[in-house]
Amino acid sequence: MNILLLGSGGREHALAWKLAQSPACTRLYAAPGNPGIAEEAECVALEVTDHSAVIAFCAGNAIGLVVVGPEAPLVDGLSDSLRAAGVPVFGPSQAAAQLEGSKGFTKDLCARAGIPTAGYVRTSSLEEARAALTRFSPPYVLKADGLAAGKGVVIAETLADAEAALADMFAGAFGGAGAQVVIEEFMQGEEASFFALTDGTTIVPFGSAQDHKRVGDGDTGPNTGGMGAYSPAPVLTAELQARVMAEIIEPTVRTMREDGVPYSGVLFAGLMLTAEGPKLIEYNARFGDPECQVLMMLLRDNLAHMMWLCATGALDELDEESPEFEACTALTVVMAANGYPGSPDKGGAINLGGPHHDLVKIFHAGTALVDGALVASGGRVLAVTATGASVTEAQARAYAAVDAISFPSGFCRRDIGWREVAREQSGEI
Ligand code: AMP
Ligand code: GLY
Repeated sequence: MNILLLGSGGREHALAWKLAQSPACTRLYAAPGNPGIAEEAECVALEVTDHSAVIAFCAGNAIGLVVVGPEAPLVDGLSDSLRAAGVPVFGPSQAAAQLEGSKGFTKDLCARAGIPTAGYVRTSSLEEARAALTRFSPPYVLKADGLAAGKGVVIAETLADAEAALADMFAGAFGGAGAQVVIEEFMQGEEASFFALTDGTTIVPFGSAQDHKRVGDGDTGPNTGGMGAYSPAPVLTAELQARVMAEIIEPTVRTMREDGVPYSGVLFAGLMLTAEGPKLIEYNARFGDPECQVLMMLLRDNLAHMMWLCATGALDELDEESPEFEACTALTVVMAANGYPGSPDKGGAINLGGPHHDLVKIFHAGTALVDGALVASGGRVLAVTATGASVTEAQARAYAAVDAISFPSGFCRRDIGWREVAREQSGEI
C-alpha cells in the first residue's frame, strides 16, 4: 500500500525509516518532511490544516494509510476528516485525542476508572484556583489544561510562586490552553515512559523509554521537548509493565470505548514510579520525540502492517510474537541549536561527518538544505542514535558519532542515560 506520513521532526524521520523498510509499504510520501526523511520518502508540500487538500492528495495517490506524527493535527480532527473520506489513519480521533489535548479530560477519566494518578482539582478562574491551592501542600503542580507545546506545566515551590504562576496562566501566558488550570498533588519518584498500540479494543505493549526533559547536564535548566532518551527503561521491570497494562492502559482503553470515544493509534503514558506503584502523569496521543527514535532503532517488525492493523480495527490479527524488539539498548542524543528551548539560532552549518558505525543512525529533526548545504532550521536539529549491549555501550557509541559531527552553532547534553549508566557501573543490574 502507499502511505502518507505527516510531520517533519526526528520522530517522523525514525517512522519514515521504519515504514520504508516495511514489506507492506509500496510508496512512502511525507508532508512536509525534512532532508533526512527525503532519503526515505517522497516529500510533498501539503498544509495539514487544510483537510480537503490532504484528502485530495490521498485520493490522487491511492494512499492506503495515513500516519500522523505530531499531536496538533490529531487534536485538530484531521483523522476524523480522513476517516469520513474512507482513508485508514494511524492516530486517534479528535475526541479521543483529548487524552493529550485536555489534562482535565484525562484526570476525570482516571477518577472515574480508578486509574492511579495524582489527586487534582480542575479550575476555570483565578479565584477558584487560588482557593483550591489551600487544599494542596508545596511543591504545587499547576497545569494549563490544553496543548502548550510541553510548556504548560509549572512546579512552584512556594504559595507566592504558585499564585503568581496562576495569575500568569489565567492572564493568557499559554493562550487558550490556560483557560482552565489543573492543580495536582506532587508525586515523588522516577519517571518512565510506556507505549502501547491499540485499535480501540486489542492492546499490544510497545516498549518503554526514559527521556531527559531538562536542557542541561544533571537535569538542570528549563524543560524542553526532550534532549535524549534510551529504550528499554530497565526501571520499568516486566512486573511493573504488567501493572501499568492492568491498572492504567487497559482501563483507559476500555473506558474510552464504553464512553463512545474509542482510542486507536499509539498511547504514550508518562509515568511516575512512586513508592505505591506506577502512577499516570499524563498521556500523549502520539509517539514521543525522541523516544520514537530509540523504539524504531530496536523494532524488528513490519511497522506499516502493524499501523494498518491499528487503523482498521484488526490488531487482534497481529502475530503473537509481535512486536519484536532487538534484545539490546538504543540511546539517542539530541543536538540542538544554541538558544533552544528559547529562540534557537537558525541557519548554522552542519557536517554530518562519517562514515559512522553500522549501529549508529542519525535522524534529522530541524534541518534544511540551502543551496545543497545542510543547515539547522529548528530547535532540535539531529537525534544521534546508537544501539549497544548496555546503556553504557550505546551511550559511548552515540557520543562517538556526536563528536564526529560538526555543528558549531549547536550543543547537546553530555550525560544522556546517566541514571542507567550509574546503575550499570554500580553493578545494581
Ligand atoms: P507533563 O507535561 O504533564 O508531562 O509534565 C511535565 C513534567 O512535570 C513531568 O515530566 C514531570 O517531571 C513533572 N510533573 C508533572 N506532573 C507532576 C506531578 N503531579 N508530580 C510531580 N511531577 C510532575
Ligand atoms: N519527549 C516527550 C514527548 O514527546 O512528549
